[in-house]
Amino acid sequence: MDRDDILNDPTIGNKAEAFEAFDDIPTNPNLSRTIGDVINARYGRRDMLKGMLGVTATTALFGTSAMIAPKQAAAVGTAGRYNFNELAWGNDEEHHIADGYNADVLLRWGDPITADAPEFDVMNQTAAAQSKQFGYNNDYVGFTALNEDGTRGLLCVNHEYTNEEVMFPGLGRQDLDGFNGMTKELVEIEMAAHGGTVVEIAQDAEGKWALVRDSPYNRRITPLDTEMTFSGAAAGHDRMKTSADPTGMTVIGTINNCAGGMTPWGTYLMAEENFHGYFWTDVVDAEGEPDVSAQAEAAQMTRYGVPGRWYAWGRYHDRFNIDKEPNEPNRFGWVVEVDPRNPDATPIKHTALGRFRHEGAETTVSKSGHLVIYSGDDNRFDYQYKYVSDAKVTDETAVFGSPLLSEGTLYVARFDADGSVEWLPLVHGNGPLNAENGFDSQADVLIDTRIAADLLGATPMDRPEDAQPGPNGTAYLMLTNNTRRQANQVNAANPRPESAFGHIIEIKEDGGDHASTTGTWSILVKCGDPSIEEVGAQWNPETSESGWFGSPDNCAIDADGRLWISTDQGSSWGKTGKSDGLYALETEGDLRGHSKLFFRCPVGGELCGPYFHDSGETLFLAVQHPGTDGTTDFEGFERASTFEDPATRWPDFDPAMPPRPSVVVVTKQGGGKIAV
Ligand code: FEO
Ligand code: CA
Ligand code: CA
Ligand code: CA
Repeated sequence: MDRDDILNDPTIGNKAEAFEAFDDIPTNPNLSRTIGDVINARYGRRDMLKGMLGVTATTALFGTSAMIAPKQAAAVGTAGRYNFNELAWGNDEEHHIADGYNADVLLRWGDPITADAPEFDVMNQTAAAQSKQFGYNNDYVGFTALNEDGTRGLLCVNHEYTNEEVMFPGLGRQDLDGFNGMTKELVEIEMAAHGGTVVEIAQDAEGKWALVRDSPYNRRITPLDTEMTFSGAAAGHDRMKTSADPTGMTVIGTINNCAGGMTPWGTYLMAEENFHGYFWTDVVDAEGEPDVSAQAEAAQMTRYGVPGRWYAWGRYHDRFNIDKEPNEPNRFGWVVEVDPRNPDATPIKHTALGRFRHEGAETTVSKSGHLVIYSGDDNRFDYQYKYVSDAKVTDETAVFGSPLLSEGTLYVARFDADGSVEWLPLVHGNGPLNAENGFDSQADVLIDTRIAADLLGATPMDRPEDAQPGPNGTAYLMLTNNTRRQANQVNAANPRPESAFGHIIEIKEDGGDHASTTGTWSILVKCGDPSIEEVGAQWNPETSESGWFGSPDNCAIDADGRLWISTDQGSSWGKTGKSDGLYALETEGDLRGHSKLFFRCPVGGELCGPYFHDSGETLFLAVQHPGTDGTTDFEGFERASTFEDPATRWPDFDPAMPPRPSVVVVTKQGGGKIAV
């Protein structure tokens, strides 16, 4: 299959593909037999697990069983850069942290975050209440200090999506049921649970963090009612105009905010990822699937998977129905800048960063002084992008709404087999990016970023998730998995067919400068179980049974320049038997490629964040959708979770409360830097 065949494959970009491809949509059966299925069938890892768990599925068993006790690798305390005793792998109803650390719940879905917010009443939810309470499915977490030692500051949290089956009583999975249970009020509660949260938090004398509930900074940002503006070449373009906004300059809200970033000047970047899933049409084909062939922008909609029909919002809000507002999807898929220090500042969608399913937007200042942002497009066979500002970061430019985010060049990556990477500029007039190919201006290049990148010959990747710039011109790319890549579709940078467990690429930009348009790349690890040859995993041989992982998603660099990885195996965690978690991954020296488990999630949850405080003494984690993914594989439970009957009631364990996505704060017992 060549590139055109991939693009024309009717299963890629449509709902069925999206449901399988997307980490963030709950359980869906695989559409084809993957290497993971072969592995399960041949090696019976899950059967082995079941055998062990048949006794009793307790943490104590995991902690003491000789069969699965982790090898305490040489890295512990000595040669490695991360000083902690590795946590044992497993999967149960609770979260777990390495010995000697606290992992305390800081904010839960529904927690009131303003002085006038009502207490959470899960049986009587309203959109008005949710608009003043912590949102659902916390993903990105950022922090910006309000005082010199950083003991007070603003926590910025994305709320990516909602799971109605564990959020509302009696509903079940609505996308599987024609959304028959959804009402306008339920839709608006969902809308109010999306978006972001900014709250002040403070640390007490004992080092414990807590919400400052009466802080004037506290606010929710939602797709229900938060007005935003656009900057950059696409702002005000005809393709951005709708009946509610004839100027093409304002839009209500942001959706599917997955990962993100903090700018060097402390503003908060929210990436809009699977925006296509929120758009609706009543025009369907013979199979009942969305049919956009009569749309003026049919080719663009198809390339972006619009409309996904994952939610019923378009039934009650015309702007999410493309039959009525065909330009509204062009107003999503951007990166939003929020000024957390000024609750009255209108957030800005910066179109210069391109339009695609932005996983995140991690920033750095290059050696040459420019703002550089790495951002992946999380879809199978899509691309890795990088943005470089025209101007340099100075006291004058380092401000909210800066031209650093509206005047710059967006690049897409081509990874060559010789180990070089070239960043190709997405600039109108460059090569094929001209009127002949449908690009009349830079606005078209930005709105149709994916199509422009196709024409430039970018390298189709295995679902680019978070991308993190590191020290000295390095960057780390999380390629989470791609079970659809066939043997004849592999390339040097995506070398495994049917990649069920993903890999991590390290880039070294030429001259150690993140603004360089050329660099070199190498594969840091190929994920999955190294004891199963067919998986083709590549780890440092000192990595223990607890240390290897599958499906890297988010990552962070800590105060000492060290790399940390969090995983999202989705409903496929049964292929490893492990819950999602946080791993410390060595990048240098003899232990390069060595990984150690530090934290793990309750069953069915994935781990987001992570974000390190500048002090290195506090780590923020986000446990997303606890109790949902793959619970049919959870020994002793083995069914889908519902509001009434969830696989876990983490973190409250209150029989009247369903599981609640929550931000967790990690500190060392007795104080001090983490893993030092
Ligand atoms: Fe929302 Fe690509 O993870
Ligand atoms: Ca995810
Ligand atoms: Ca993600
Ligand atoms: Ca990150």
